[in-house]
Formats: sequence, C-alpha cells, structure tokens
Amino acid sequence: MEFVTGYTQHEADIPQLFRDVFSASEGAAEGALIGTLAQVMMATAPKNDLYVFSARDGDVMTGCIFFSRVDFAEDDRRAFILSPVAVRTDRQRTGVGQTLIRFGLQRLRKDGVDYALTYGDPEYYCKTGFQLISEAFARAPLPLSHPHGWLGQSLSERGTAPYRGASRCVDALNQPELW
Ligand SMILES: CC(C)(COP(=O)(O)OP(=O)(O)OC[C@H]1O[C@@H](n2cnc3c(N)ncnc32)[C@H](O)[C@@H]1OP(=O)(O)O)[C@@H](O)C(=O)NCCC(=O)NCCS
Repeated sequence: MEFVTGYTQHEADIPQLFRDVFSASEGAAEGALIGTLAQVMMATAPKNDLYVFSARDGDVMTGCIFFSRVDFAEDDRRAFILSPVAVRTDRQRTGVGQTLIRFGLQRLRKDGVDYALTYGDPEYYCKTGFQLISEAFARAPLPLSHPHGWLGQSLSERGTAPYRGASRCVDALNQPELW
C-alpha cells in the first residue's frame, strides 16, 4: 500500500471514491452529498487549510481522508477536523482506514498542528487515538445531531487544554446536513 499526500493528480478519482463508497453504505443521496463535499472542498478550501491523504494499490485508490482547518475565535492553536473518510468497499476491514488515518495524523503532528477533531463512530475512531469530547472542551462549528460522535485528540504538548471561543470550519463543511 502506498500513501499519497495531496490531490493534484487525483482530483477526479477522489469524489468518485466517496460517491461510490457512501452510495454503497448509506444510499445514493448520501453518496451524492459526500461526493460533492469532497469535490467542493478541493475546489474552495484555501490550500493551507486542507490536507488530503489517499491510499493506493497500484492504480487503484483504496481509501481517502480529508483534514480541514477549524478556527477557534479566542484561541491561536491550530486544529483540523478529519472528514470525510472512505475506504473502497471491497477493501474495507483490511486495515486501510486505520493505517491511512495514522499516516495523516503523523503529517499533521510534523506540521505543528495542535489538535485533531472528528465527528463519527466512536467505536471506530477511538482505534486511532480519538476520544469522546464535549462542547465545553471544544465547540462544534454547527449544531451536532449526534453529540456522542464528537471526538478529538491532542497532537502537541499545548494541544491538551480546552479550546476557547466559537469555532469555524471551511465553507464546504458549513452545511447543517453534514452535522
Ligand atoms: C468506516 C471505514 C472508513 C473504516 O475503514 P476500514 O478500512 O474498513 O477499517 P479498518 O480495517 O481500518 O478497521 C476495521 C476495524 O474497525 C472496527 N470498526 C468499528 N466500527 C466500525 C465501522 N463503523 N466501520 C468499519 N469498521 C469498524 C471493525 O470492527 C474492525 O475491527 P476488527 O478488525 O477488530 O473487526 C470504512 O469501512 C468505510 O469507508 N465505510 C463507509 C463510509 C463510512 O462510514 N465512512 C466513515 C463516516 S464517519
């Protein structure tokens, strides 16, 4: 398995992977929503506010994850949120997702990011170091429909204390139906 940082050579494959994976797991409407999310994030997020990591097996993209910047109004620490995440349907449960998430977190640490957030299944994300957090610790950018899926992990020594002020995500994630 090979890991690729960035999306410039795979800009068309990536939305298609998300569309296919989420259509298979959650239905066509969710597939369209997440495929479009991936496309719009790559097209609109400022370059320094987005990390895209993918796993490849030869010519086949087996998984892809995005981290995008979250700013806290009264806090100068750097936080990124992991979303969306997809592993090709015929490669799921073979370790691709966890290996890719660890690869991405390592790069964020190296770049001096203080905190990683995500929003999803705690059973899964706790395997890569995320823990349940509350909005008293770090406010979500939009109202959470499943507050028990709000997760985070510190990536630096100064990352561990609560985050101050309201938070703001990139425009592409600023849609109530995603939260
Ligand atoms: C969820 C997903 C990203 C996991 O990636 P993956 O490569 O299949 O998972 P891994 O092989 O790294 O890890 C699988 C392990 O996590 C566990 N796990 C816990 N919750 C899980 C979940 N919701 N989905 C898959 N595995 C889950 C499995 O039991 C498995 O452990 P085991 O090997 O001890 O049985 C992938 O299955 C996927 O793309 N699913 C459809 C889209 C999706 O749900 N994305 C995430 C939105 S929050």
